[in-house]
Amino acid sequence: MNTLVIVAHPTLSTSTINAAWVAALRASGRVTVHLLYEEYADGLIDVVKEQRLLDQHDRIILQFPFQWYSAPALLKSWLDEVLERGWAYGPGGIALQGKELGVAVSTWSTRADYETHGTYGRTLSELTSPFEVTAKRVGMGYLPGFFLTGAGHVTSEGLADNSARYVEHVTAGADG
Ligand SMILES: Cc1cc2nc3c(=O)[nH]c(=O)nc-3n(C[C@H](O)[C@H](O)[C@H](O)COP(=O)(O)O)c2cc1C
Repeated sequence: MNTLVIVAHPTLSTSTINAAWVAALRASGRVTVHLLYEEYADGLIDVVKEQRLLDQHDRIILQFPFQWYSAPALLKSWLDEVLERGWAYGPGGIALQGKELGVAVSTWSTRADYETHGTYGRTLSELTSPFEVTAKRVGMGYLPGFFLTGAGHVTSEGLADNSARYVEHVTAGADG
């Protein structure tokens, strides 16, 4: 199985969590890492190139820091532009059928905030459910989300451990 991790962090150079995840993924040598904001600093997405990348992979992970309980804007544009009618859905739109989609999300707020009876009254699975529905709409399987909460409290040892678990999560069952 070929795995593509699409990273959407507007300022990766100032990132702690997502940068550590990227470093761990690259060190594993087991996945393709695609940095969306670095690739498209001007915001102009090359749809054909992105669709070709998706064609070449069976498992797609969307990695991003939570921003206003959602994904950074370029990832939303990416979805809007790349998942074209006639390619991803609609007549003849079967390009993604049978592939897998997952999200990996870092948050500043804590796990307790994202509990049903927590500060926000919504879990991260609920808040990221549009990705699950999108996967369903285009015929993809949906993987369990990978979430790192409380980014401000993570120690360097904790982040190293979490990054190793992230690589395992992303590549689980992918070597067969
Ligand atoms: C514009 C903006 C909006 C944010 N919105 C949220 C949010 O809705 N929920 C949350 O838990 N953290 C929010 N954060 C905090 C980031 O998610 C957090 O700093 C990031 O996940 C840490 O990862 P990094 O070290 O890779 O940047 C926001 C940060 C920014 C800059």
